[in-house]
Amino acid sequence: MNVFTEEFLKIDNSKIVKEIREKGFFKFENALTGEFINNIISDVKTADIGLNKNNVAGVYFTHGNQFFLTHMLAASKSFYNYCTNSKVIKFCKEMFGDLFRLKALRYYENFGGQHMQWHTDNRRYEKSKSVETHTTDPGIIFLAYLSDVEDGEFQYIQKSHIWSGQNTHHDYTVDYVNQNYKKDIVGFKGKKGTILIYNSWGVHRAKPTTNTKFVRKTLFFQVEKNINQSEPVLLNAEFLDEVNDDIKMYLGFGKKANNKIYPTTDIYTMPLNKKTFGIIYRWFISRFVLYMPGFLRKKIRNFYKIPSNK
Ligand SMILES: [Fe+2]
Repeated sequence: MNVFTEEFLKIDNSKIVKEIREKGFFKFENALTGEFINNIISDVKTADIGLNKNNVAGVYFTHGNQFFLTHMLAASKSFYNYCTNSKVIKFCKEMFGDLFRLKALRYYENFGGQHMQWHTDNRRYEKSKSVETHTTDPGIIFLAYLSDVEDGEFQYIQKSHIWSGQNTHHDYTVDYVNQNYKKDIVGFKGKKGTILIYNSWGVHRAKPTTNTKFVRKTLFFQVEKNINQSEPVLLNAEFLDEVNDDIKMYLGFGKKANNKIYPTTDIYTMPLNKKTFGIIYRWFISRFVLYMPGFLRKKIRNFYKIPSNK
């Protein structure tokens, strides 16, 4: 399976690096193959959400406005092939030099109706501390659209990576941005398969949308020059075809992973939607039928599609 299209592989990494250094971002449509996108969607569906499932699964955050599958390196060989691709590793070498590390990764879905603040991604949350810490390390983020994005698109203030470091805060109000940088806002509508690589110091957000039917499916991973910190990376050993020194460094083999996993969720960030209600309701019925006579138990299990041995 090819992850990237020929068109994308042909682009010189030095050109990508130059654009990111100058404007803060690089955008390319049709960078990912259809097969890769389909594989990711299928792997996410298989991982699903997990209530007492003995596997890696997805979670809901912000009361159902977002779905995340953070541990893509445990759930998807295709994702492993993507974020450890030699094109990516070579690009990182061009960008950072010899040392760099995968800091965070995830698949996520944004549902309509949410309002994200303008912010930068050069912050970190240590497991041992409750407050965020400023990082001075250079970093980049790969965003990939897995669905067509016509609304609620990513927006970036061009060249903001140059000035944002003068501030120690990471969030910016809509008023501040409109007064000072309105002309610099660049929007990124795009078809699925579009890739956006941006400097983590740049100010960005997802454009607010009121359309609640809208879903944006995105792949995210962040790489930093600092090799001494990252979020925990859960990795399926089966996926590693070749373990060379670059891969060991990039994935943080044997290194501390002190940053908090994003997002932090529990049962209370889970919405009571059609899906979660369906699971819980059927589970409840499955407990209840145990007290019923055999013929009735069978009928009810069939009706609610509950496996017969449960
Ligand atoms: Fe961000």
